[in-house]
Amino acid sequence: MAQEQGNTRKVAIYRYDPTVGGDGHYDHYDLHIEDETNTTILDVLLRIQREQDSTLAFRYACRVNMCGSCAVVINGREGLACKTNVSDFAESKDLTIRPLNHFPVVKDLVVDMGPFFEKYEECLPFFEPRDMSEEPAIIRPDSIERRAIGFSTECIACGCCVSSCTMVNYHDGYAGPAPLNRAFTLLLDSRDALYEERLDRVLQSCYNCRTEFNCTEVCPKEISCTRSIKFIQRLAIKEPFRAKAKSKAEAAASAPAHGENVAAEPCAAHASGEAGQCGCDENLDTGRRNFLAKVTVGLGAVSALTVGGVLASTFVGQSLDKKEPVWVPAGKLGDLKEGDVTTVNLRYVENVGFYNQERVKPVMIYRNQEEDKVVVYDSRCTHLGCSVHWDARQKLFLCACHGGAFELDGSVKAGPPPRPLATLEHRVENGNILIAMV
Ligand code: SF4
Ligand code: SF4
Ligand code: FES
Ligand code: FES
Repeated sequence: MAQEQGNTRKVAIYRYDPTVGGDGHYDHYDLHIEDETNTTILDVLLRIQREQDSTLAFRYACRVNMCGSCAVVINGREGLACKTNVSDFAESKDLTIRPLNHFPVVKDLVVDMGPFFEKYEECLPFFEPRDMSEEPAIIRPDSIERRAIGFSTECIACGCCVSSCTMVNYHDGYAGPAPLNRAFTLLLDSRDALYEERLDRVLQSCYNCRTEFNCTEVCPKEISCTRSIKFIQRLAIKEPFRAKAKSKAEAAASAPAHGENVAAEPCAAHASGEAGQCGCDENLDTGRRNFLAKVTVGLGAVSALTVGGVLASTFVGQSLDKKEPVWVPAGKLGDLKEGDVTTVNLRYVENVGFYNQERVKPVMIYRNQEEDKVVVYDSRCTHLGCSVHWDARQKLFLCACHGGAFELDGSVKAGPPPRPLATLEHRVENGNILIAMV
């Protein structure tokens, strides 16, 4: 008798019926999955809805990590259902799927995002161009400003970070990580006209953050809201200096110009270079000029020092973030398929700030003994990060999201991926293959 392929998972899903009310409950399902590396949590929900319980409610749209609508809590951790693979969880583990925390539940896994967008709105999430800005107002991609903003602009408003943040529950007025991250991207944008008002709106919230890093840990777009919030706090520290220098400069600019107190017309003596022969007080004039020069230099120095300090500390912070790779065992070299690709789920523990996090990452290893060659491919598609799988029949790496296809050497064969598959560093010790996870 042919042996059955795959694994049967026990799946517990939170159910809430608004017509009944109460605290809700969990329903339990058994689901047989043939290939867990190629099955997402969204696939699990869709199959349960189609095959076992058509009343199950959940939300999704794009299926490719772009719309943010499928965010749920899976085995205690927030994530996008369409991005999380079943194989991310050890085979023996049951799956528990519940709605996001801190959001009112509408039905089952569907939450009301209204309060989230209200908080967003309070932080002025829109761009307001400055009066003097020229079109097109460009920020160069390699500028310090753009690099500091980084990919914080990639937020898809999924709400995972807000769900993971315990402080959201403690402070009613707390804007939460995603809205503050949005404010951060605009506060650093030199073209934006709402700097003061925006900073004023988010300042109190920034101090509600307790630097727990939960938001950073769960963001499916790998945005560090913690970093964004800390950056706003640094802007707040320099704000009194900036405001003082600005008001001094404004006062100086609105003071009467040279000679205004004596005559409406320019002073002929000064115009002819005969200083001291007119009614103007040249010393006063020189003094004011010196004062203005000092304010300007001072303003420049304060902002250069402060901005420099903020940016330097950010980049120092970023460089400090660089970690030593963790060498994760991927099995015996001899067990890998010869001349073919083997998918291996790497399991390892990563130190994330103050605690350790268990990780599961699928990688694809190509081995060719004749050429004495081993290549380890990252399974993330270089288009939008969906999981790529090896199709042995077509001899291609395929991405189901938008039809991306990669050759055996990792180069792009078809579809939208802009780059070849990423490779991971490896080494072989005593016949065991070790892969570097950074
Ligand atoms: S910052 Fe990340 S986790 Fe938070 S809403 Fe945006 S994409 Fe989602
Ligand atoms: S770092 Fe701040 S915003 Fe992020 S989870 Fe912690 S308290 Fe919340
Ligand atoms: S369905 Fe759009 S992000 Fe998952
Ligand atoms: S994510 Fe679009 S093709 Fe892979």
